[in-house]
Amino acid sequence: MSGSRILSLGHYQPSRVVTNDEIAQLVETNDEWIRDRVGIVSRRIAGDETVADMAAAAADKALANSGLTAADIDLVVVATCTSVDRSPNVACRVAAKLGIAAPAAFDVNTACSGFAYALGTVDHAIRAGAARNAIVIGAEKLSEFTDWTDRSTCIIFADGAGAAVVTAAAEDEAPGIGPVVWGSVPERGDAVRIEGWRPYVAQEGQTVFRWATTALAPLALQACERAGVDPSELAAFVPHQANTRIIDGIAKRLNIPQAIIAKDIVESGNTSAASIPLALSKLVERREVPSGAPVLLFGFGGGLTYAGQVIRCP
Ligand SMILES: CC(C)(COP(=O)(O)OP(=O)(O)OC[C@H]1O[C@@H](n2cnc3c(N)ncnc32)[C@H](O)[C@@H]1OP(=O)(O)O)[C@@H](O)C(=O)NCCC(=O)NCCS
Repeated sequence: MSGSRILSLGHYQPSRVVTNDEIAQLVETNDEWIRDRVGIVSRRIAGDETVADMAAAAADKALANSGLTAADIDLVVVATCTSVDRSPNVACRVAAKLGIAAPAAFDVNTACSGFAYALGTVDHAIRAGAARNAIVIGAEKLSEFTDWTDRSTCIIFADGAGAAVVTAAAEDEAPGIGPVVWGSVPERGDAVRIEGWRPYVAQEGQTVFRWATTALAPLALQACERAGVDPSELAAFVPHQANTRIIDGIAKRLNIPQAIIAKDIVESGNTSAASIPLALSKLVERREVPSGAPVLLFGFGGGLTYAGQVIRCP
């Protein structure tokens, strides 16, 4: 197989909007500090929806936008670190909800870099001939793993899902998903974590901040190089939506003034593995990036893990 490409996207967000002022009623913080230090104005927090419900809703939209049907899908991969159930995995639940009969179905857990890991894995499966049409989803319900008395985390995390339908590229077609650059820094695994039996997200904010703003830009540039795309050609940069200061710091080092820099965090918060497909789906829905234009995705987070690739916009 010559490669794969993203055919369509879809996303789902819970209807409940939670403002910074509401968070300030729970912990000692304020709207100005959160806007200034993190960049979030509001976020979406789920009610009864499970991770699988949100994942299926996003996948359903992506499938509707693709021109394919459930019968065409032979692989479902869900990136998530907030599924409460150990088994069945979220991918199987999504397949059941969407009536996808017999797909290969598995979850990927690399926290906030999960979507780029899952997209890389799906691209490899299609290249190897192990799948032809896949749905890859990032979905998180971080509100269930948030200590709402901890102001260092409860201001940041949120809920949502984004999905992409990925298909085999034609033999004479250039690949629409570039080689993934992926890796981890296991010795700093504790810098962002959800541990134990009654887990809450915990983090060493400054460690993550320093790592993200110093180590990641060269890796993102590697993803461009491996795809044969000069950074000056990028139409958009869609990094994990962790913090607007981190996003700006990486973008500055990439030197891509021509590119749209996704800042969905402002109204969606940090939705971990969901943040990249959510932000990308919204850019495409608003027709801000032309079809076929190169877009750099780059995820990073718990583990510490990272992954990114250049894709062609559907
Ligand atoms: C978490 C983060 C926003 C904290 O910002 P920071 O600039 O590092 O803030 P600090 O922890 O140094 O705290 C600075 C001051 O603000 C205070 N503060 C911390 N959290 C606050 C809050 N929510 N509201 C108001 N004040 C707060 C601190 O007590 C400290 O006060 P002091 O100077 O009087 O001691 C920032 O470190 C960050 O975004 N890191 C990356 C985290 C991340 O992206 N995690 C997800 C990875 S996927």
